[in-house]
Amino acid sequence: MVSFKNKSVISIRDMTMDDLIKIVDTTGFVKESNPPDFMKDKTVATLFFEPSTRTRLSFESAVLKSGGSVFGIANPGSSSQSKGESFADSIRTVAGYCNVMVIRHPVEGASRMASELSDTPVINAGDGANQHPTQTFLDLFTIKEILGTLDGLKIGIVGDLKYGRTVHSLTHALTLFGAELTFISPPALGMPEHMLNELDERKIHYRNMEDLEDAGKRNLDILYVTRIQKERFGDPQEYEKVAGSYRITGETIETLGKDIKIMHPLPRVDEIAEEVDSLPNALYFTQAHNGIPTRQALLGLVTGGLD
Ligand code: CP
Repeated sequence: MVSFKNKSVISIRDMTMDDLIKIVDTTGFVKESNPPDFMKDKTVATLFFEPSTRTRLSFESAVLKSGGSVFGIANPGSSSQSKGESFADSIRTVAGYCNVMVIRHPVEGASRMASELSDTPVINAGDGANQHPTQTFLDLFTIKEILGTLDGLKIGIVGDLKYGRTVHSLTHALTLFGAELTFISPPALGMPEHMLNELDERKIHYRNMEDLEDAGKRNLDILYVTRIQKERFGDPQEYEKVAGSYRITGETIETLGKDIKIMHPLPRVDEIAEEVDSLPNALYFTQAHNGIPTRQALLGLVTGGLD
């Protein structure tokens, strides 16, 4: 990719380590220097066909802080798709109203399809259980900011690895930085087979385990916790079987090692006890707040206001 100008950002799989470093470094520049109005005269559409708090609001805040304009759909029921308009026709239309479209959609591949329908760049804000690349950008920035490096870290990823799009994006990115990966999940919610096959083909070493205490023996730098994605289960009884599989408490942190950092893309349900929030280990609200400079950086690179 090298230059992001006028490019769509759909999947971490499309990116190199240098692309990711570029975004992390540009985020650092934005956070430190607060450059003014680099999105003046640029308009961004946020088209969210699935619920969101952090991604939509931090994109919108990022545009406004950078001097641009933003409009969008927060609820698909308020768009003409409720009258039967196709997703493709909505995209062809909105593409003429803005400089960038930020799209979240429940269907895997929706953002890729949108990017092929017009010349207006598309940023994928989450497509089904597939990818959530901008979450990965802010995760990487937060890791670098707190730990000082992205290289060779020992990272455990726990929870719903089957449906969690954030961990699909993050896993691919971390392999580019030589991370030692431990996947912790109930067997029914393990990393998708196609992802494990890809890691095997690339000769990336990883461990699968079910017991969080076993992960403590690995001296993890980071435990990345995810919510069980209730909305993606076809059968509510299948969800009930795995709900509450893991819960991180102060005691868990003692077991895993007092220096371990706890990350989570949020929203959380009950997988991290609130007592953890005030511990120096908890990074998840820092992650959420880093969403703004990260998305400012990305929008600046895509619209050409930053280079
Ligand atoms: N992390 C994340 O994508 O949060 P939202 O669903 O609130 O946007």
